[in-house]
Amino acid sequence: MVKPSRFVSELEPYKITPQDVWSAGAPEDLLKLDWNESPLDFDLYRDELRRIASERGMVAWYPDYLALELTDELSRFTGVDGNLILTFPGSDVGLETLCRAYLEPGDTVLALTPTYENFFVYVLQTGAKLDKMDIAPPFAPDVAAIAARIEALGPAKAAYIARPNNPCGYMVSRDTIEMLAARFPDTMIIVDEAYIEFADEPSCASLVERLPNIVVARTFSKAFGMAGLRLGYFCASLEVVNTVNKIRNGKNISMFAQRLGLHALRNYGRIAAWIADVKASRARFGEWCRQNSLTCYPSHGNFVLFKVGRPNEVCSALKAEGIYVRNRNAMLPGCVRATMGSREHTDRLIASLTRMREYL
Ligand SMILES: Cc1ncc(COP(=O)(O)O)c(C=O)c1O
Repeated sequence: MVKPSRFVSELEPYKITPQDVWSAGAPEDLLKLDWNESPLDFDLYRDELRRIASERGMVAWYPDYLALELTDELSRFTGVDGNLILTFPGSDVGLETLCRAYLEPGDTVLALTPTYENFFVYVLQTGAKLDKMDIAPPFAPDVAAIAARIEALGPAKAAYIARPNNPCGYMVSRDTIEMLAARFPDTMIIVDEAYIEFADEPSCASLVERLPNIVVARTFSKAFGMAGLRLGYFCASLEVVNTVNKIRNGKNISMFAQRLGLHALRNYGRIAAWIADVKASRARFGEWCRQNSLTCYPSHGNFVLFKVGRPNEVCSALKAEGIYVRNRNAMLPGCVRATMGSREHTDRLIASLTRMREYL
């Protein structure tokens, strides 16, 4: 028998969570609030997809390996030199490629938990170890304690910080990221900004021009509503970009993803309007939680984590009404995470929750 790598053998088997939305029995009026995508399909993309569908080579040819036009536009959008931006088919692939390029057995990566756990697999498959630092409610990370933990790890080879954090919604300040990177030049500070467009604080992207050990991962899956097309990027120093480029597979980003990414950036006003709607929904849902005496954690993302008496029943009852939310009870007792969308989406969520008051 051919044996897999010993690091892969040691991983937990992949848990299949069915994506009910793709099943034939999915309801027409399904409201998908479980994976923090946009619950809405943007017309902006539908029209552009129609326009480009018949262009030469879109399907038959390999895509633009360097994604030059998109990278130029991303440079304008982020304010970061285009040479310091690398595109990937989703920020997940950016994070995974970074881990493959930098980690090896014997390394330890610090992660503030709870967090986005897909990242753990990218670390563990390289033979590196994870050190989880638990951040408890009300989710106010102690910066001195994080620095002490990085140091105690020798220092750690890398530290993974999602800002905003998923699923808790809190922010680690840009000053903290800058301080950690300056203090630990041999530690890669991996900043996951998947939800940064919804935050009230600035991105760390421009820090990569000064600090060679910061990588900032961003995505088109959340604010841009393009999760299905797979497009993400990271900003990093030239040294990191050149290293990761040795193993990056640029062929993986379809021209559909590149063109729609470009189109989204050139029409950012429409995206900004959507972001404003989502932020209004987030505030409104938070207010409803408070009025109903439910604990709800302040969020900088397009989602809200709230606490209920019977999370399993709440999730099942919502699903029966066609509303999919994420049960986070195993991670944080009593907690449910709901993606925020338009005012109508929030109205529907609130109306359903009101009907199941006995479970709240
Ligand atoms: C913190 C975080 N990072 C990355 C991702 C994945 O993003 P992408 O679709 O760009 O791979 C997610 C998706 O849920 C996320 O929550």
